[in-house]
Amino acid sequence: MGHDDIIEDDSVKSKGALTCLNVGCGNDILDGYINLDAVKLDGVDVVHDLTVFPWPFADDYFEEIRMINVLEHLPDTVKVMEELWRISKDGASVVIRVPYWNCWQSIGDPTHLKSFHQRTLDCFDPSTKQGMERSYYTKARFKINCIGYWVPLLPIEDGRGWFKVTNPVAKLFMTALSTYLSNIIWGLEFELITLKHERK
Ligand SMILES: C[S@@+](CC[C@H](N)C(=O)[O-])C[C@H]1O[C@@H](n2cnc3c(N)ncnc32)[C@H](O)[C@@H]1O
Repeated sequence: MGHDDIIEDDSVKSKGALTCLNVGCGNDILDGYINLDAVKLDGVDVVHDLTVFPWPFADDYFEEIRMINVLEHLPDTVKVMEELWRISKDGASVVIRVPYWNCWQSIGDPTHLKSFHQRTLDCFDPSTKQGMERSYYTKARFKINCIGYWVPLLPIEDGRGWFKVTNPVAKLFMTALSTYLSNIIWGLEFELITLKHERK
């Protein structure tokens, strides 16, 4: 199936054969991406409700997908992950950012339906314990390449900005702290690689 078969909208066709998708873009419109949202904001290329399946894209199409602060708004995490898997190519990069379960931002927004722990997406990665024991949850498979921790610059309500922690030792320390205390980690950024062919 070619790109023209995927999306009928002329504004998207004019972007050429873009293979990067910004899912639930809001006002964060990215150049070089197809920007999708439920709301027709300036710069949105595709208006689609992400709870309606299938999404209007072909199988195995995208090389890069970003979904920043959106998954927590959607009722069926597994179904969304399966759709991300369907529309991405083998080896594609899929970046998902969500609020952390024991941060006030996770529960402070009444439109958030889900909360996330660093283990929540393990069942999609066949190399994890959960992925091995619960492989029957879904056929969608991703390798979890990295999980970044977003932490606030200052421990106050607006945080005054954030930075991403990927250092394993710093993450271990924060994981231990956040097991007993809240508002240490504010967000998780999952960097996933789509696996279309099960690798042993
Ligand atoms: C918190 S905003 C994040 C926007 C942007 N990704 C960013 O990081 O600034 C969540 C976005 O998801 C979109 N969204 C929520 N539910 C949706 C749905 N069912 N279908 C499509 N978009 C949805 C909202 O319209 C909103 O723009």
